[in-house]
Amino acid sequence: MINFKGGSGKTTIAAHLLQKIALDGYRVVGIDLDPQASLSALHGFQPEFDLLDGGTLYNAIRYDDPVPPRDVIQQTYPINIDTITGNLNLMKVEHDTPRALMQRHANLFFARVGDSLAQVPDHYDVVIRDCPPTLGYLTMSALSAATAVLVTAHPQKLDVMSMCQFLLMMSNLLRVVANAGGVMSSRATSRVLWQLPPLRKPCRVRPSAQ
Ligand SMILES: Nc1ncnc2c1ncn2[C@@H]1O[C@H](COP(=O)(O)OP(=O)(O)OP(=O)(O)O)[C@@H](O)[C@H]1O
Ligand SMILES: [Mg+2]
Repeated sequence: MINFKGGSGKTTIAAHLLQKIALDGYRVVGIDLDPQASLSALHGFQPEFDLLDGGTLYNAIRYDDPVPPRDVIQQTYPINIDTITGNLNLMKVEHDTPRALMQRHANLFFARVGDSLAQVPDHYDVVIRDCPPTLGYLTMSALSAATAVLVTAHPQKLDVMSMCQFLLMMSNLLRVVANAGGVMSSRATSRVLWQLPPLRKPCRVRPSAQ
């Protein structure tokens, strides 16, 4: 789920997709790549309070001493839905990656998210990654691991213009990543346009009588 427009419904649609796919009997995991951790919150986790000893996506993809992904998978209340939570620490990935690139870190940044989950073989039928509203290293790493991309947008002029700029920038960046040895496995890009329900009545505010 991507788009650099905030509030375009990425997290909401990710959560509903997770539930639908789980109800259809598949095992799914939702990965929260957003430091805001909204998808985690929707599944009952407040990582800054509930996971003080680690156990978030950051712990599995950090450059120094990453933990096995198995250690950060959390079970949620609904059957068949697991989650890997995000938290504010994910911001560190955006700052640490340039340093790791300068030090020519063995594991390239765009492979970190995909490589990490690849260590949990044949465990899930579907993996849904909820990206932050940016086109940073985390989003590019998620794109690199994805087999399909869903771009959510409000059906309004400025939002659609923003989505076009995003798609243009994304294709340019992915070309750079592919030239640097990244494997782009995404085979499909879909756009989801959704509509807020119309207001029932205009709201009129009258000055109150003194
Ligand atoms: N189909 C919908 N109809 C009405 N409201 C919706 C719909 N989908 C999402 N919303 C509302 O829009 C707001 C933003 O949604 P959401 O948090 O999913 O966006 P987001 O793209 O994940 O935002 P961010 O980029 O900040 O992570 C929320 O208040 C959510 O309840
Ligand atoms: Mg979100």
